[in-house]
Amino acid sequence: MPGAAKRQDKTNGKPGPKHNIEAAREEFYERISKRDMAPLWKVMKNVVTKEPVTRAVPHVWHYEDVKALVMESGGLISAEEALRRVLILENPAMRGESKATNTLFAGIQMILPGEIAPAHRHVSSAIRFVLDGEGAYTSVEGEKAFMSPGDFVITANWAPHDHGNPSKKPMLWLDVLDFPAVNFFEASFADYPDNEMQNTTRGDGDSAAFYAMGVLPDGAPIHLKRSPVINYTYARTRPILDRLKKAGEIDKSHGARVHYVNPVNGGPVLPTMGASLALFPKGFRGEPYRATDGTIFVCTEGGGTTKVEDKVLEWGVNDVFVVPPWKRYAHSMDKETVLFSISDRPAQEALGIWREEKRPS
Ligand SMILES: [Fe+2]
Repeated sequence: MPGAAKRQDKTNGKPGPKHNIEAAREEFYERISKRDMAPLWKVMKNVVTKEPVTRAVPHVWHYEDVKALVMESGGLISAEEALRRVLILENPAMRGESKATNTLFAGIQMILPGEIAPAHRHVSSAIRFVLDGEGAYTSVEGEKAFMSPGDFVITANWAPHDHGNPSKKPMLWLDVLDFPAVNFFEASFADYPDNEMQNTTRGDGDSAAFYAMGVLPDGAPIHLKRSPVINYTYARTRPILDRLKKAGEIDKSHGARVHYVNPVNGGPVLPTMGASLALFPKGFRGEPYRATDGTIFVCTEGGGTTKVEDKVLEWGVNDVFVVPPWKRYAHSMDKETVLFSISDRPAQEALGIWREEKRPS
């Protein structure tokens, strides 16, 4: 075997003398590189890090600026032509990647009176959180959910959906999708049918009536990996926070908080993303906290600041801000405040990799 003989000549089958060892290693690395191989010991500490490493940075997008630019985009392109008229909220450290965190996309979508955003479906799941407007709808699997500020609508993996606005006002909402995570697995599919709108096959509000009222109809889909409810209204959820506060159920970091759940099994609304709504009493000074899920927050009432490591984010109503994974953060509010939040915690929990730390080190 001439090849084997050549290799034997170069290394003599064992490491060279001590002063030659670096040269011998470099020569070895070069040789294995030509065969698409590399020594793990040179990169071990970079690929198996002692603590989570993120490229994402904390950042806030102020609604006043965002709204003006989204409204301006309305004069440049129609919802139909754009398919989805969305301005992406890109993490400043990951420009050009359509990511707010490494696993989550965030964007602000607008639909003008009379417009339709045509039906489609995709493997990525979406959470829509309504910021502005009244009376536009998202239609999911043949059911229309009419939306008001603070409502949140899910469109799960492969659920057909379209949006329409029969009202007289523009509607703006925050879209958060898991497609960076889906694309990491290289598992994305999408389908763009010819029909602009789905046929309405179910009554408006059916899913909440069937599954979110403490009863289940015969044949309820108990093994679904996502919630059968498509619209969680602010009107229904917000008063629960007042009750929690009155009952003294106020977490030292997260305030009086509820997690949106699949009412059939108590699990998350989607297998890849979870959502929460939290009330913070006037004068709240949160204890520092960190977890491995990067989180996107939206303020729905009040305002305050969030200290993320050394950076202070200041935010008010409808501002969107992002806290990257494993960055220690603490909220402070002078007035009563409500925050909605979305993260990939359910996906991490399903994989057994989610961790949190409640006390500063
Ligand atoms: Fe979509």
